[in-house]
Amino acid sequence: MMTTPLEIKIQPEQKVNIWSGFYKKALKERQNQLKLAFPNLFPPTSPIISRDSFLNTPLSGSVSNLTESSSDVSINRNISSSDINNLSITEEKFPITSLDEHIADNMIENCVGTLGLPVGVALNFNIDGKPIIVPMAIEEPSVVAAVSGAAKTVSQFGKGKTFYTTTSERNITFAQVVILDVPDSLLDENEKKLNSMKNEIITYANQYCQNMYSRGGGVVNMIVRRIKKNERKLRSNQVVFDSPSSEWLICHFHIDVCDAMGANCASTVAEGVAPFLADLTNGRIGLRIVSNLCTERIITASFKIPVEKMKYKKYTGEQVARGMIEAYEFAEDDVYRATTHNKGILNGIDAVALATGQDWRAIEAAAHAYAASGSSETANEPVRGHYKSLTSYWVEEVEEEIEDVNVKQRYFCGEIKLPIAVGTKGGVLKTNPVYHYTLGLMGHPDSKALSAIFACVGLAQNFAAVRALTTEGIQRGHMSLHARNIAIAAGAPSHTIAEVTDYMVACNRINLNAAKKYLLAHELHSTLRKHLEGTDSQSSKPPSMFYFEEYVPEGEDKNNRVTLNIAFQTLTDQPTNIEYPTGSNDDPISQLLFGNKDYTWISSMADILDKFHFNTASSGRANYVLAKKLKFLSMIINIITTRLMTYYPKQTTRFIERIFRHSKRPKSSPSSSKTKTQQPSIEKYLLRPISAHSVPSSSGLSWSVPDTGIFRKNVLDIADDIKNLRDPTLIQVGFPLLLALWQVFELRVVQWVGHSSLSSSLLEEQRKVISAIVSSPIPPYKPSEVHPLVVINGKTQDPPYINLFNRFIPVYSKRFQVTMILLCNAISVDPTLINSRRIKFLLTLGSYLEWELAKDHDLGRLGRDLMLIQNQNKKLSHDGNIGNGITNSFIIWKEMREKTSPKQNMFHFEEDDDTDDSVSSPSLVNTIESIDNEPFYQRYQEEIKQYLLETNHSIIKSQLFNTETCLLFSKEMLENTIEEYQKYYNVKNLLDSLNTN
Ligand code: MEV
Repeated sequence: MMTTPLEIKIQPEQKVNIWSGFYKKALKERQNQLKLAFPNLFPPTSPIISRDSFLNTPLSGSVSNLTESSSDVSINRNISSSDINNLSITEEKFPITSLDEHIADNMIENCVGTLGLPVGVALNFNIDGKPIIVPMAIEEPSVVAAVSGAAKTVSQFGKGKTFYTTTSERNITFAQVVILDVPDSLLDENEKKLNSMKNEIITYANQYCQNMYSRGGGVVNMIVRRIKKNERKLRSNQVVFDSPSSEWLICHFHIDVCDAMGANCASTVAEGVAPFLADLTNGRIGLRIVSNLCTERIITASFKIPVEKMKYKKYTGEQVARGMIEAYEFAEDDVYRATTHNKGILNGIDAVALATGQDWRAIEAAAHAYAASGSSETANEPVRGHYKSLTSYWVEEVEEEIEDVNVKQRYFCGEIKLPIAVGTKGGVLKTNPVYHYTLGLMGHPDSKALSAIFACVGLAQNFAAVRALTTEGIQRGHMSLHARNIAIAAGAPSHTIAEVTDYMVACNRINLNAAKKYLLAHELHSTLRKHLEGTDSQSSKPPSMFYFEEYVPEGEDKNNRVTLNIAFQTLTDQPTNIEYPTGSNDDPISQLLFGNKDYTWISSMADILDKFHFNTASSGRANYVLAKKLKFLSMIINIITTRLMTYYPKQTTRFIERIFRHSKRPKSSPSSSKTKTQQPSIEKYLLRPISAHSVPSSSGLSWSVPDTGIFRKNVLDIADDIKNLRDPTLIQVGFPLLLALWQVFELRVVQWVGHSSLSSSLLEEQRKVISAIVSSPIPPYKPSEVHPLVVINGKTQDPPYINLFNRFIPVYSKRFQVTMILLCNAISVDPTLINSRRIKFLLTLGSYLEWELAKDHDLGRLGRDLMLIQNQNKKLSHDGNIGNGITNSFIIWKEMREKTSPKQNMFHFEEDDDTDDSVSSPSLVNTIESIDNEPFYQRYQEEIKQYLLETNHSIIKSQLFNTETCLLFSKEMLENTIEEYQKYYNVKNLLDSLNTN
């Protein structure tokens, strides 16, 4: 037996592991990530803007594609259900999906349908030093996670951080031909004859596997075997057929089947050569067929882990190692345990076999026979033993030199050894297209490499099972397993099962009623209507990663932190890994995208906003974490958009407009449908048509579910936008990252927020926040469109400044995203408490709070900025430390009040100036500078008072606090939270003093 290295194509090692957090992603996100990680395996089906074609496109403007073709605007507001059905027929499916029934019909007899199984990927495998992900098809929960967990332990702590494997030198499959009726007296003579004619027989047999032979394989040996017939206990009245022979005479052919599994080839050889053997021996032909006990295809996989690193949960490494060895020894000695022990191993192996189109029954049969046949490796005469474990564990102690000192190191060692016959050529591999993808995920291994992967997965499964069994047990896992089955029995759609399960486990009510109650409230969007469009097929560079981590207060999350891992594809040559907040300091792109203070802002904002607790108990950790993640996603999207707006306002505005055009706006949401007639939608303030190419907002843009490919045609069609930029990197990284974050936000809302009104409102709210940011510094003011002119004393005039101000501030204050936070919090509330009326209430409450906070914030900030200008002799600048994002509601109010024509004093950047990307507004800077800071609050006390008075929302406030507030929140809580905000913005004292004056 020889060690053969595995030749598996791998992705280069990443600074940030793109697979971490994979299990927390939405299904579509995972599919997107596979597309990114394996661009050659999942080429796009429609033309896309690839990185290379993008970079090589002549910058003549021909790439510009702001005008959408009608087919791009796929669904309009009035879509009917039949449209949706048609759409789902034509939508591009992720190719790892069930077998076409017409193909199935040709595969077996009497076909009536196909059967689906979930396909997952096991992560963290390092096999002979090479990282790999392994597809597994299995209906049993926990197996993929268990295998990935064990593989992680080996790749973190194992010697060499890897599994080691050995395979047989050749892929030998056995064929048996039984020759009957050779009398005992002639057995010796015939055995000799067969042996002496071995070469002729082999040559004759090779006629029946010409293909293998020409590829360097074929029949390579023949062994004559004789087996004594056992005495049999006869049943009553049993008829016995006489035979002249008391032994079985068998010709055992060894066939090198190259990369095939080999069963067909072996059986063809056996049937072909049998008459020749019968002639030679004057015997009668008996069975002639492959043997699945392929003991010349033995695989081993092993690992060694320092004993102290075997620490698991609350158990020491020593305890775990000892427990696992005892468990293994028990399986060696007791066949009842050995059967379950090996069943677990085959949980892993069969799942990979199923996913990759292998004959798993053959693998099972060989594994069990081998487990029962002892350790014979040549297996010409397998030793009959009793059924034992296929794995073994032991601890060894070796001397090792560590920093010039010899130390004794104890290793926990694990090994699996079994025969595995798999094929990567022939069989059904070409019939079912899915195998192309599942094998492709592993870099299309040859059959030896594939069987080595099987062995590692079997070992990893057993390692995980035995480790759990000897420590905390598997009951906890079983509880949720049971809950999953209940969830399925209650009719939970597949994508809600985890959620329903978590809910039942969290409230310790694992029964049909609980599941049904949950499902009732969580009716999810049934279809993700428009699907992924292509990825960057030409590019083989690994995807870029965005990693975010935020610690949450003790007890709220099991791991005490919330993480996001998002794969995306930049438009630059190199992948860019962004760790946020850590790592951002050395990385200029992260610096530009997030700035210095934004992380602090996120954390403190998160803390304050978390105080908006609902009165009701949370319905489970899963939803709490989801709510938290959506908040962070939204904040990060907002920060990046703000930063991109600071540097590239025109380009960013165009980009966001494209996202909007392709992004979804659900059919009905309380805010869009019901409030439409009462006042102009906030959308109308936003996103002015940018150029002649844009689709005017009245054309019924695609308020539709987005197609969620990471590399979206048209959305990332930004060649024109960067053609005059000296260094477009920020855009080339920032835009794809922003798009990816946006899509992840949408995917998670669509897949996991069960309440349809709530999910619609979340998506719509995100658009509003971004719209508010993109409309910086002030929403476009179009009096004739938005504000009907008013008639005062018989004369048509612009509306009074306070009306204008009152229209400005809801847009401007959206960026404080309180509404978004409230909606996110609603995700973790008992869904029966959420209805459209209450969502509307949250929207109103959010707007009110945003309004108040914007005013508080701006007063506080202006005071601080002016102080800095005066004390440190700093200049106001539009891009930096002071007055970053200089729009200030107080100044706007003041200007509107002082000047008669508000129109002239509304600031927005010039659209047609192509060279100046700055967002600065000279007159606004001037106004701020003209405010004498000494001392700001005293000097402007009257104006500030007037400002607060005029913009006071006391009526709304009292209404809010008197109606539904107390059902969802307590009044005190809300007031405390507002106070927290005021403290944060440093305006508490100021407001107190003004109130008492
Ligand atoms: C369950 O499918 C598999 C286990 O029973 C295996 C074992 O006991 O080793 C957990």
